[in-house]
Order: sequence, then structure tokens, then C-alpha cells
Amino acid sequence: MLRNAIVLALTLTVATNAQQPSASRVDKLLASMTLEEKLAQLSQYVPDQPELKPLLQKGLFGSILSGADAAAKNVLQRTAMDGSRLKIPILFGHDVIHGYKTIFPIPLAIASSWDPEMAETSARIGGIEARAGGIHWTFAPMVDIARDARWGRIAEGAGEDPYLGSLMAAAYVRGFHAGGILACAKHFAAYGAAEGGRDYGSTDMSERTLREVYLPPFKAASDAGVDSFMSAFNALNGVPATGSRWLITDILRGEWKFKGFVVSDWTSVTEMIAHGYASDRRHAARLALMAGVDMDMVSNSYGELAADVASGAVPLSVVDTAVRRVLEAKVKAGVFDQPFADESRPAKVMLTPDHRAAARRVAQRSIVLLRNEGNLLPLSRKARTLAVIGKLADSSEDMLGPWAAEGEKEDTISVLAGLRAAAGADNRIVYVPDDRAAALAAARDSDVVIAVLGESRNMSGEAASRTSIELPSDQQQLLEAVVAAGKPVVLVLMSGRPLAIPWAAEHVPAIVNAWFLGTEGGHAVADILFGAVSPSGRLTVTMPRATGQVPIYHAMLRTGRPANETEKYTSKYIDTKIGPLYPFGHGLTYTTFEYSDVRVSAASMARNGSVTASATIRNSGTRAGDEVVQLYVSDPVASTVRPIRELKAFRRLSLAPGEARIVTFPIGASELQLWTPGGWVVEPGRFEVTIGPDASRGMTAAFNVVE
Ligand code: NOJ
Repeated sequence: MLRNAIVLALTLTVATNAQQPSASRVDKLLASMTLEEKLAQLSQYVPDQPELKPLLQKGLFGSILSGADAAAKNVLQRTAMDGSRLKIPILFGHDVIHGYKTIFPIPLAIASSWDPEMAETSARIGGIEARAGGIHWTFAPMVDIARDARWGRIAEGAGEDPYLGSLMAAAYVRGFHAGGILACAKHFAAYGAAEGGRDYGSTDMSERTLREVYLPPFKAASDAGVDSFMSAFNALNGVPATGSRWLITDILRGEWKFKGFVVSDWTSVTEMIAHGYASDRRHAARLALMAGVDMDMVSNSYGELAADVASGAVPLSVVDTAVRRVLEAKVKAGVFDQPFADESRPAKVMLTPDHRAAARRVAQRSIVLLRNEGNLLPLSRKARTLAVIGKLADSSEDMLGPWAAEGEKEDTISVLAGLRAAAGADNRIVYVPDDRAAALAAARDSDVVIAVLGESRNMSGEAASRTSIELPSDQQQLLEAVVAAGKPVVLVLMSGRPLAIPWAAEHVPAIVNAWFLGTEGGHAVADILFGAVSPSGRLTVTMPRATGQVPIYHAMLRTGRPANETEKYTSKYIDTKIGPLYPFGHGLTYTTFEYSDVRVSAASMARNGSVTASATIRNSGTRAGDEVVQLYVSDPVASTVRPIRELKAFRRLSLAPGEARIVTFPIGASELQLWTPGGWVVEPGRFEVTIGPDASRGMTAAFNVVE
């Protein structure tokens, strides 16, 4: 009794002593915990979960997933800490995906900036606001590669490319850390490759594809010091990711030396029963913990492991290791030192003018100009009457996009509001939400029509897979009606995925892909349309002509019968043109660029050597603009069939009219290697380097890798 009391007293001093080094603080806590207390640390609940009720007063849980305000979180923290024996504070986690109160563009849009600093800024500000709201840990970044636009969660990631995705992954991690919260790379792994784009569906792929395409952004997050990983819902090659020891223990912790903790996805532990991989809850919990999942999100299953620990089926050391990781995360997040949020802070940090300005800048850079026939954009101020068409134009709610945390429509600028704020005294704006006849009449009476069409926010995100990624039919009909008026039309597309817009691409002169841009979205759209800012975004997803073309992406594997219009027996569809509507990397500006002098520094290089590739890029137009210079590598003959091309580097340049710059890229093993059963290898032979403005164009130079 006395001994226990002394241990407890010691532990309490430890837990409240800010100076205590984390290792000994955690060691001492662990030494004094009962098995029940340990398993409790491995469980996360949502506040209204019935199972939490009896545990709350005793503090018998580790984490709460909550979007509630700081004051409400403090009440939970106070209750748990007052009632618990060891006073271990709660770790609050939440989905801070693209901002907390100030909402930034959706991650797919941010990726279109091809500027990791945009990701970092959004994460830093999201982190600052979330922390003020009492959140210690975000379930972001989502670094799933997505090559099937039917999958609604394509909105949450960086798109189809592993190189770009890796840069964005690392940038988000840096940003969240700078903002003061822990980050979580999700969903480990290959969740984005769900069959048919059906959310929660299974994934089956070669280890080479996994290693070359789906894992690199996770590795980049790990290397950037991400604090946690979330195991995915899907089964990968027959094993639910949440029960995959190979993924979590062998690859993540073994090969990559990841030192943080792993949380399951929402009930993904007990979903292994429905997968037919676990016989019951206890079995599922055992499989997950033994695979390396330290914390169970919402399944409430880890408490059932006490019997397995008693029988030896789950070694106590495995439980201890998991608890240690969770406690270390709490130390790292500063939760022991500061369990309570300062309730006066939200008023000071949420939605500050600085945060809004940053959101506007990121939104401007996320917009992709897809088409601009006859340089319709930027709009001339002489266009006196603007007809703004489409209910999305006036919807600040939809502008927030999916996963908008605490973002509110009242704080958000719709396209209509942005246009009204930017329009000159001479401009008249006539708005028609969705009546076709009224829209046609307004279009007839206007100088320019701005049609704001696409998806509503609930059409993308989790559990929002679609069989058709064309414009919703009411939107398509509205578009056709206003185009019939014969006036110049600008289509502003809002969506969480690349949409197939073949009709618009032929009949609408200017198309601006605006995704869901967040709090300042409407201002950013107006900045681009009126030319206050030059568009500079580039697609990080290939835009198909029809849903039936997906998956379609720039790095598709070579076929023995490359598509050819005149040869029937080649790899294509009989009912649509070959190739995408807009390729990966595509995006126009208000100027033009010329590429020349693409070269490689040497004709050959040793396997472990390096060369450089360079090109000259000149702004050949009359306005300043940003070019995103892209470098693609192809390996024409290899021991395994290779992608047609792979993005390996890019550089964003701001060039004044007439200005030229030479861009140089280093090329070494990491740009040339491929995955083989024996690991990463650079194979000797010829390599081609193409430098250009998108995945379909550019100039090529070649060199040889020699033994
Ligand atoms: C389920 C989602 O898959 C995951 O991304 C999210 O973080 C959790 N729910 C928590 O909201």
C-alpha cells in the first residue's frame, strides 16, 4: 500500500514537472500503470460515444477525437484528469485538413500550386488555429496517391504523382509542426487505389507499384518527422491494412525507422471482422496491436486484450511499447505541461487578417486556367454587364469544400461576393442561380457570362465516390443554355476532383478550374478573372474526356500496342478520342513561354554517378507570369515494364516579359531507380529526359547509364 502510494506520488510529480526529460517521465509513468490503465491509453473515442461515459470520470482512455471548442475540451480534460489516478492528460485529435477556422483550398487544389510552401503555410496556420482550439494532433496530411477520380477522397490529397505528393507530404508535416500540432500521415497504405474508385474498397497491386507509387509520400512524411501514421480501411493484397504487420512493423518501423505511433482509422480495427479476417472483436484487436497499431480509433476494442495479455497471446512488452509511444506523443505535444487550452486565445488567433491574406494567396495559386481562347481572360473592365450564372456562385458553404473543420460559411467569400467586391463602378452584375430561361435572358443582355458550375461540397470527400465525373446534368444543361446566347462565356469550375468536361472544352472559350478554395475563395477567383493576379496553377491530376477513361494518369505503364487513331487493334476506346482532355501538369497563364536548349551534361554516367539536365525558358508574351518547368524521365528498355514517363523534378519560375532563365536539375539514382524484388536498382542503358510545360509536351535529351 505504502509503496504504491509512494510510486503514485512520485509519478504525479513526474507528470506535472515540465523540466522532466520525456524518457524518464514516460518510464516512471509506465512503471506505475496497471494493465487496465495501459490499454486505456491505447483507446480513442468521440465525445458522444456511449462507451466513453463510464470511462470519462476515471480518465480511462488516451485520446478524444473532437471538433468541439476549447472550453468544451477543457471540461473533458478537467473531468478526466480530476478523476484519474495518474493524471495523464487527454490527447485531442481532429481532422484539420485544409485549415481550422480560416479554411484554405482543398489539398488537391493546393497541390495544383506546385508550390510546397503553399501546403506548409496552410498547415502552419491550420495548426496555430487548431492548437488555440485545444487540438494537439491533426489527422493530416492525407498522402494517398489517387489515380481514379471516381474516388471522392482524391480531394484530400496531392493527386496522382508520387514525386509531387512526396514534396507536399513533407511540406504539410513541417507546417503542422510550425503551427504547434502533431501530424499524422494517412491512410497507410494504398487506400487511394481502391478498386473502381469505391471508397473503402479493396486494393490489389504489385509490390513494385506499391513501392514506386503509393509508398513514397508516406516515406517522405516519415523522413520529415511526422508524429503518427493512420492505418487504412482497405485490404491490401488480401490483408486489411490495419492488421498488416508487413506494412506497419516491417516497412514503416523496420525499413523506415519510424519512431512515432500508429492509430487505426475509425473502427478499422473491428471492421476486420466484416473483412472476414478476424473472427471477433478481441481477435481483431489482437491482430491490430500485434501488427503495430498503437491506438484504436473508436472501435473500443483494445480493452478486450487483457485476457490475451494474461494468456500470453499478446506479450505485455507489445502493450508497453505501444503505451510508451502514445505517452511520448503526449510529451512531445506538450500536453503534460499544458493540458488546458487558453480560452482567451481563439479570439486572438482565429481568422486574423494575416490568416485570411494567406488563404487568399494560396487560393490564387491553386486556380488552374484550363482554356483561354482568344485571350478572353483577364476580363476587360469594359465588359459592363456581367451575367453570373449558377447556384454555386452564391454558395459560400460549397466554397469551403469537404473536411472544413470549424470553417463557417458566414466567414467565407463566395464567387459572387468576390466578383461584386472586385467589379468596377461601371460593371453591373446580374445573378441567376439556376433558372434556365432567366439565365439565357441574362446572358443575352450581358457582355460576358461567368458560369460557376460543378460539384457541391458533399459530392466529394469521404464516402462520396461517383460513377460519373461529368458535370452534373442540371449544370451541363444550364451551361449549354447560356452558351446558346452567343456571348463570351467563362466557366468557373468548382469540384473536389478532376471533372470530365468534353463539351465545355469545345464550346466554352475560357475555363478556370477553381476546385473548392476555402474562406477567401471568391476573392481569389475575382483576382484571377480580372487579372489582378496571373493564374499559375497546374493540374496534378489528369483530366479525362469521359469517366470511362479512368484510371488515366501520366505515368501509365507502356503497352505493346500504344494507342493510335488509325490502327484499330491498339490500346484505346472506340467511343472517345485518345488521351486526356487536359494532361497532368497543364495550366495556362496570361503570357506564353518558350523552351529551348534542353540538354544533359554528359552522354553517359556511372550507375552511382550523376548528371544534370537543363533548359532555357523564356517569357515570350507581354505579361509577367509563372511557369512550372517540369522534368520527366523515361527508361525505354528495362527489366520490367516501365511507366511511359515519370515526373522527377520541377521548378517554378517567375519571369518578366522577354526574360529568360536557364533551369538546371540534378539527376542521380533517385531519379532513375526502379523497384525490383531485390530492392532499388539503377539499370544500365539509355534514359530520356524531357523538359516541358506539361506531361504531354517538351523537348527530349538522352544519356546512358553505364556499368
Ligand atoms: C475516417 C477517415 O477515413 C479519416 O481520414 C479521418 O481522419 C477519421 N475518419 C477521423 O475523422
